[in-house]
Amino acid sequence: MDLKDQAIIVTGGASGIGHEAVLALAKKGADLIVADFNIEGAEAVAREAEALGVKAFAYKVDVSKAEEVEALVDFAVEKLGTLTGMFNNAGISKVQSLLEMDPASYLKVIEVDQHSVYYGLHYGAKKMVELGVKGVFVNTASIYGSVAAKGSFNYNAAKAAVIAMTRSGALELAEHGIRVVGVAPGFIDTPMMKNVPDEARASLAAQHVTNQLIQPEKVASVVAFLFTDAASAVNGSTVAADDGFLAFKV
Ligand SMILES: NC(=O)c1ccc[n+]([C@@H]2O[C@H](COP(=O)([O-])OP(=O)(O)OC[C@H]3O[C@@H](n4cnc5c(N)ncnc54)[C@H](O)[C@@H]3O)[C@@H](O)[C@H]2O)c1
Repeated sequence: MDLKDQAIIVTGGASGIGHEAVLALAKKGADLIVADFNIEGAEAVAREAEALGVKAFAYKVDVSKAEEVEALVDFAVEKLGTLTGMFNNAGISKVQSLLEMDPASYLKVIEVDQHSVYYGLHYGAKKMVELGVKGVFVNTASIYGSVAAKGSFNYNAAKAAVIAMTRSGALELAEHGIRVVGVAPGFIDTPMMKNVPDEARASLAAQHVTNQLIQPEKVASVVAFLFTDAASAVNGSTVAADDGFLAFKV
């Protein structure tokens, strides 16, 4: 129970990596806000977390809207009494060639995947400083923040920015006792993958050492660890949870 008395917001908590992160953090004793666009899904996940013995509240948010993220942070403090952590995880992808990618389509992914992380860090850290608490931010990047993938021009840009914001956020916030780290998942077996045809899923899985998609619980356990003091030496870095993808060719 090394996260007892911690109050953590998880965005994108209704599904996939966020859902499993809520459960992993609850098992370590953290109280939680399950924040998502999908409020029914967030409610269901909050009930699962409560069943593990912690406080958990669902909150409907569009993380691409600054004022909604600011209100989310206020809601967390109102319900949990403090804010000591935030998992900036909600994200989308939209595979499209650069030639077909119009400005609206480009900006949508940038707003949801990139601007949301700035809003989380900005409003979340301001609140922690105001409350005088130390805290930890974990941001979900991707292997596609480090290498390009065809059809992912906007996603590549957004996730590279998340890795950069993790570094500069850590530098800016260290003097306040706030740590900022990232996680870069490989190909994860979540609803985000459900639209990918079987053949393409197999070729993605083949880029992992185990030749399998990674289960979201495995990313969640890395995330939960990053929130703990046992990970206090990790700051400004983005940790790959990618079954070897970035380290070598299989
Ligand atoms: N699945 C993968 O292979 C993979 C790989 C690398 C990185 N990621 C990243 O992991 C994160 C989680 O993805 P996942 O695979 O669990 O996907 P998912 O689709 O299962 O979950 C994403 C959640 O985010 C929510 N969401 C989307 N847009 C939102 C918005 N504007 N405001 C609030 N909530 C919103 C969705 O409702 C959903 O519950 C994303 O940032 C994604 O880019 C996923």
